[in-house]
Amino acid sequence: MPDWEARSQVVVVGTGVAGLTCAIDVAATGVSVLLLTKGAPDEANTYWAQGGVAVVRNERDAGDSVGAHIYDTLVAGGGLSDAAAVGMILTEGPAAVAGLVARGAHFDAGPDGLLRTREGGHSANRVIHAGGDATGAEIERSLLSADGLPGMLTGHQVLDVVRNAAGRAVGVTVLAEDGTVGLIRADAVVLATGGAGHLYAATTNPDVATGDGLAMALRAGAALADLEFMQFHPTVLFTGGGVRGHRPLVTEAVRGEGAVLIDATGARVMAGVHPLGDLAPRDVVSLAITRRLAGAPGGVRDHVFLDATGIAPDVFARRFPTVSAACADVGIDPNTQPIPVAPAAHYHCGGVVTDLFGRTTVPGLYAIGEVARTGLHGANRLASNSLLEGLVMGERAAAVLPRELETGHDDHDLVLPELPSCSAEGRDDAQALMSAHAGIGRDAAGLATAAAAIRARPTTTASRATVEAANLALASQALLAAAVARTESRGCHVRTDFPAASPDRATSVVVECRDGILSTHVGDLGRVTA
Ligand code: SIN
Repeated sequence: MPDWEARSQVVVVGTGVAGLTCAIDVAATGVSVLLLTKGAPDEANTYWAQGGVAVVRNERDAGDSVGAHIYDTLVAGGGLSDAAAVGMILTEGPAAVAGLVARGAHFDAGPDGLLRTREGGHSANRVIHAGGDATGAEIERSLLSADGLPGMLTGHQVLDVVRNAAGRAVGVTVLAEDGTVGLIRADAVVLATGGAGHLYAATTNPDVATGDGLAMALRAGAALADLEFMQFHPTVLFTGGGVRGHRPLVTEAVRGEGAVLIDATGARVMAGVHPLGDLAPRDVVSLAITRRLAGAPGGVRDHVFLDATGIAPDVFARRFPTVSAACADVGIDPNTQPIPVAPAAHYHCGGVVTDLFGRTTVPGLYAIGEVARTGLHGANRLASNSLLEGLVMGERAAAVLPRELETGHDDHDLVLPELPSCSAEGRDDAQALMSAHAGIGRDAAGLATAAAAIRARPTTTASRATVEAANLALASQALLAAAVARTESRGCHVRTDFPAASPDRATSVVVECRDGILSTHVGDLGRVTA
């Protein structure tokens, strides 16, 4: 039995752009909302987003169009995006950005309006940014100080979604910082838990990104899809082999301003690889780096370089203060030295299957932001589309949630989940296995090796570390199962034993969990429901 109980009409788990937008909008309708996060208020993937928000404001962006943005997104998605989701989210983007500006976000502007840059896969300069390369931090700042922000419990690790006997989500269990377990009853639960970069040994994601939302949704019986598509960012600051955990990003916008990738011999990495060269879609660039390193140019196997010496020093310092600081920390002067970089886990393109209002296949359970799979990203997310998706989907979920709340369910009818808690001892080994066998370039034998070795060893005590260990193990197994099922290469999923895309495989792999057993099937995403 829980140590304590509380109640809110809606609980929103996660404090990135999607969760905060949804929470503020729902609270504005008079519905009671509680925000929950295991970390500090701004500890979310959003905070670390550097490059910006990809958005076309038709009337102002001469030479660009929402149609071109849709086209680029579909191309990057490798044939797996849902065209309806792409069209809707990108079309609603300009209004959502205007709403964010109205809430106090300041984007970088010049005499002719907002400044725009280019990132990989975009055919036009359409990425707006803030603080140079501190876009996510500005979005977090503005939303956390916005009028109407509802109450928040920080330092509370959500354990699981609680359902009633009819299978409806009716609350969550949480582990408080003092070690007590609470039950928070609710009429709807919104998962906005962000990413899963810590499934791997090195990631751009902050420490909170341990796949909690994926694991909770699986245990609650929701359908997940496209999990095999973990996007690796090509340019993450390399500070030595074996360095683990959260690594500093070197935003793609540095290439947008003219920097180029070179290997240890000084040869261009992207020459002849793709018509967009250094600004090819991210999966193409990460794969090109991986292939180049396999040949150990100049005897170097673990990193290449980003040569930004062509960018004027004052421009670099003004546009990229975050990158400049990260380089300075490790003694690199990007004005005179190429920056050592290597790919690292960055963004999970798949997630909990939702419709275009964030509804999942579990009634009363919603998912928005990186944890969700709307169909926008397909097999590879187009750079800087994710903040936009979080913003739009936060608004869209909030638009339907108040009228979909089902009150009056039998409060005695709860099915309390078991405590998800595992020994945290094998965490480093599991992350190393995922990096070795489920990174860029996978095959059946390696995936089987990882799946056999990554094991959840249940414990009876619970701490944030043991709960994260349980979630990491389940989310890793789900990703591995999806990667095994996709016997082709597409987007971020590169199978060395199936190197080509199969035209008949442009269909999602769905992963579900029943009685603790994971299963996969291809095609039917399941029925989403309020
Ligand atoms: C970057 O700034 O390169 C990252 C942007 C993104 O992941 O969309």
